[in-house]
Amino acid sequence: MKQFISVADLRSSKDETLSVAIERQVEKALQYKASPHMDFSLGKGKRIGLVFLNPSLRTRLSTQIAAENLGMRAVVFNTGSEGWSWEFEDGVVMNGATVEHIKDAAPVLGSYFDILALRTFPSLQNKEADYSEYALKQFIRYAGVPVVSLESATLHPLQSLADIITIKENHFNQHKPKVVLSWAPHIKALPQCVSNSFAQWMNAWGQCDFVITHPEGYQLDEAFTEGAVIMTDQQKALEGADFVYVKNWSSYRNYGKVLSNDQSWMLTNQKLAVCPSAKIMHCLPVRRNVELSDEVLDSHRSLVTQQAANRLWAAQSILSSMLCSNG
Ligand code: CP
Repeated sequence: MKQFISVADLRSSKDETLSVAIERQVEKALQYKASPHMDFSLGKGKRIGLVFLNPSLRTRLSTQIAAENLGMRAVVFNTGSEGWSWEFEDGVVMNGATVEHIKDAAPVLGSYFDILALRTFPSLQNKEADYSEYALKQFIRYAGVPVVSLESATLHPLQSLADIITIKENHFNQHKPKVVLSWAPHIKALPQCVSNSFAQWMNAWGQCDFVITHPEGYQLDEAFTEGAVIMTDQQKALEGADFVYVKNWSSYRNYGKVLSNDQSWMLTNQKLAVCPSAKIMHCLPVRRNVELSDEVLDSHRSLVTQQAANRLWAAQSILSSMLCSNG
């Protein structure tokens, strides 16, 4: 694995299906969960730089611990708050707010570290730039070492891997699970990346009946949702669900805009009566009683802590695959 920015990077060969590649990676993560230090010598003498342009709790700490479990030295750099502000665009006259060009910063980081990991967020202003993953691609272009996405403008693959691990750990029946991605209200315009990524991984996995439900105007990019059943009737979508993944996102078509604050989309126990055995997922952080009610979050249905804990094993399995591929 030379880079990890999307589910497609899991394939060990062109012939391997994504479903098989996902199952293999989940198995590896579960082995690390059972025995966190079994490969403690794998990363001996190696360093990973975790570079954040935006805040993080789970991604930062889980990836740091995952690297340390593999014997690596992990250094966190919050460049968004502590470093020089970066310019990503080639050829610009840097007489504005940006201080250092990515063309200069990334190779310096590449000279310090064996693996680099980057978190960027979308602008939510410029759809073309965001959906071309311009910032992440510029970083990869100039870093000169393997790069892991810690969340990008359009995807959050480490989160999605942890999500599938969590679903597999909590599905005990023989039948194919029904998984529903349900839009939730929020006070701010949020990226589509967690939802895009979850949809991409669910469709690639192919081991569930996958439904997406959202109000009118919140259709995600079809490049990620193709294969899913899409409904604007949330109650109908929830019927018989085994897992409900709750997430807000801003509009993709009317890019970055908040089109609805309809609080009736927030899940409550009453709404979940149509899926009495459904488990509830959210990537966190969550705005309580805006996105999800206390009664649901604090109930036995909620998987959010387990989901966040699984971020560690997802990260460890990916870093391990990168160390194995890159000597
Ligand atoms: N889910 C997630 O990525 O959490 P953080 O933003 O805290 O890293």
